[in-house]
Parts: sequence; C-alpha cells; structure tokens
Amino acid sequence: MVAEFAERLDLSRAGYTFAVVTMAGMGVSALHQLNGIFKEQQNRALDAAFAVSMPGNFPPLSRPPAGEKRDKILLAADERLDEIAEAISQGRAVPPGFAPISPLMKALTYGPFTKQVHGAGENFSVSDACTGCGTCARVCPAGNITLADGRPVWNHRCELCCACLHFCPVEAIQLHVLRGTEGRGRYRHPDLAIADMEAQRGE
Ligand SMILES: Cc1cc2nc3c(=O)[nH]c(=O)nc-3n(C[C@H](O)[C@H](O)[C@H](O)COP(=O)(O)O)c2cc1C
Ligand code: SF4
Ligand code: SF4
Repeated sequence: MVAEFAERLDLSRAGYTFAVVTMAGMGVSALHQLNGIFKEQQNRALDAAFAVSMPGNFPPLSRPPAGEKRDKILLAADERLDEIAEAISQGRAVPPGFAPISPLMKALTYGPFTKQVHGAGENFSVSDACTGCGTCARVCPAGNITLADGRPVWNHRCELCCACLHFCPVEAIQLHVLRGTEGRGRYRHPDLAIADMEAQRGE
C-alpha cells in the first residue's frame, strides 16, 4: 500500500524530500525501497530518510511490549521525532542508513509476503465474543472488512496491517499464523483514535 502511494506521488516540484518510517527494529530496507521507487519513477532520490523505533505490533511473531516497557519506547520515539523535526527544519541531507541484515531479510521475505498478503484475511477468525460493533471494518485502511449478520468477513485486499486485530474492543479477532495471537497481547498507539484511522482510509 505504501509502495503504491509512493509511486503515485509527484515530486517534480519538491524542494526537499524526506521520509519517516516507523519500525519495530528493521526499517532501513523500507527507506531504501522508497528511495528506489523515487529514483526509478522520478529520477529523484530522497534528501533525507529517517526511521523511528516503535513497539512491535505483530503478536504472531513477538508479544507487543506493555506497561513501562511500552511507555519507554514511546517516550524515546517522541525524542527521536524532535530530532527528526530539527533535521528537517534545517533541510539536512540524511541518506538511508546502512544495516546489512535488513536488506537480506527483505530479499528473503518481502517477495513471498507481497505475493500472498491480499489473501491474508483467510487467516483471521472471530469468536462469539464479537458484539457486531463494526470497529474492525471502520479502522481497516484497505476497506477489506464487511459485516455479515453482524460479524466481520475478510475479503481479498488485506494488507496484514493488523489494525482490525488491535482495535477490536473485546479481542474477538485472532490471526492464525506463526504463534497465533490468542493471549499474546494487543498494541495500538495510545494517542490513536478510531476516528483517526477512519480519516486516513483510502477509498
Ligand atoms: C504485517 C507487519 C509487518 C511488519 N514489518 C516490519 C518490518 O519489516 N520491520 C520492522 O521493523 N517492523 C515491522 N513491523 C512492525 C511495525 O512497523 C511497528 O511495530 C509499528 O511501527 C508499530 O507502531 P505504530 O503503529 O505506533 O507505528 C511490521 C508490522 C506488521 C503488522
Ligand atoms: S471490532 Fe470486534 S466486536 Fe466489533 S465487529 Fe469487529 S470483531 Fe466484532
Ligand atoms: S485492518 Fe489490516 S489486517 Fe485487518 S483486514 Fe484490514 S488490511 Fe487486513
């Protein structure tokens, strides 16, 4: 979804270009990928590229940090954002960092991930705890969820962002890949409201 967005941007008249990605630990390859898209599409590299560490939000792989651990990461992210804002306001050149493991991981996993991601809805299930509130459909950035008889149905344009999983107020949604999500915690940024998610949806 982000790659498609980047491909549609027109940077021909931009004076200074920058990108900021959030990550759980390896975001450098995403910055290189964005840089590659801009170079290829518009013969224009990013002037500055930044990554911000956030709490992990993919419970099938690792439990999202909670409590003090989560708050510490969020505080550090705020400080990092202040640094980034300062660099941007000064028009500083910041090339994407060098992290040899990150491109290797991308080379191994990104192709298979993008190939099957739109069908990832097949791996979600919903329990009887579902109240039919519709929050999952409201927050889905891909418009991938419809409600049938008050229950979510996942269609075929999933991006595996996990917003439905994390925003369900009664944890009725589970994702059945790797270690699964049952009892493995949930994470959403404390400042992020359902209305914010709805406002940034593409249609
Ligand atoms: C499907 C999926 C793929 C992800 N891939 C990566 C990744 O390649 N590298 C990484 O560092 N974090 C990855 N993450 C983690 C998120 O980038 C990170 O946890 C996120 O920025 C959480 O904070 P935020 O929603 O408040 O920005 C992934 C998360 C999901 C749901
Ligand atoms: S957010 Fe949860 S409770 Fe609400 S409709 Fe979706 S699955 Fe059901
Ligand atoms: S919210 Fe994200 S994970 Fe859930 S259906 Fe929509 S795109 Fe897929």
